[in-house]
Amino acid sequence: MRARALVAEATNTLKASPSIDHWQKSRERYEARDLLAFVMGGAEPEPDAKIPRVRAERFRGLVARRATGEPIPYIKGHTEFRGIEMLVTPGVFVPRDSSEFLAEQAVRRLRGRKAPVHVDLATGAGTIALAVANEVPKADVYGTDLSGDAIRLARKNARHVGVRATFRTGDLFGGLPGKLKGRVDVITVHPPYVAEHEIVDLPDEIKEWEPVHTLTDNSGDGLGFVRRTIEEAPAWLSKKGWLLMETDPDRARDVKREFVVGGFRDVESTKGGELKVTRVVVGRRPR
Ligand SMILES: C[S@@+](CC[C@H](N)C(=O)[O-])C[C@H]1O[C@@H](n2cnc3c(N)ncnc32)[C@H](O)[C@@H]1O
Repeated sequence: MRARALVAEATNTLKASPSIDHWQKSRERYEARDLLAFVMGGAEPEPDAKIPRVRAERFRGLVARRATGEPIPYIKGHTEFRGIEMLVTPGVFVPRDSSEFLAEQAVRRLRGRKAPVHVDLATGAGTIALAVANEVPKADVYGTDLSGDAIRLARKNARHVGVRATFRTGDLFGGLPGKLKGRVDVITVHPPYVAEHEIVDLPDEIKEWEPVHTLTDNSGDGLGFVRRTIEEAPAWLSKKGWLLMETDPDRARDVKREFVVGGFRDVESTKGGELKVTRVVVGRRPR
């Protein structure tokens, strides 16, 4: 069978799937091409290329998995984040393109410093921490997460990417060495910010596949983790340190208010990423 026909068939299968969020135009076709390239060893075949039967069958199997809602990075075992290949395993949150903006904001604030220190709370697969370690090699980078699976994967990713970063298990700041108190230049965090009652409204491909503790802090407004971070962060930040927090556009105003209530200065919500919507709230350490 030709590549063109296989992609068309897969696109139709994915379009018909009730488990996929069809939010982006041509998403299904893009994913079909991505899976075919994966099956062919990385490079996308020409539309007229004849695909051997064994590979075509393997491709159909992967498309069937995707049609159940399984995220592509879980199927492929990896994804790309700011130009680095991150390994991904079920049980750990999948790095999102939208978080690249958070990493970019951290890199901008760390590059000019002499001996920068960065902490990535709730690091998951090590996403933001490893992007920073890759782009600011002189930085001392730490990542923490409550999940042992996440920290094991983050350490594996550090070896995979070939960068220097320290990962610790712990609740919020719990896993960090005490010597970092008052010395951290940038704290990044992409928290579980979905309110408990909102979980049911998430697309199947998220709520059926990613662990619930990566999505919600079980609070009624999705701001429980946010408030704890704002309360505890000042003790860890250096005098000119920044807290950078990813959120969803609908919650940005509430998160910004929490920063102000917590005494943070120069608080702003910033727009970025492909969709140019508010994704990151930033603030300087309170005096
Ligand atoms: C939305 S995911 C973000 C993961 C990663 N930063 C990323 O952007 O790919 C939230 C992460 O918070 C972690 N988490 C949840 N509660 C936590 C807590 N109390 N302390 C530390 N990490 C926590 C979860 O295990 C999960 O990895």
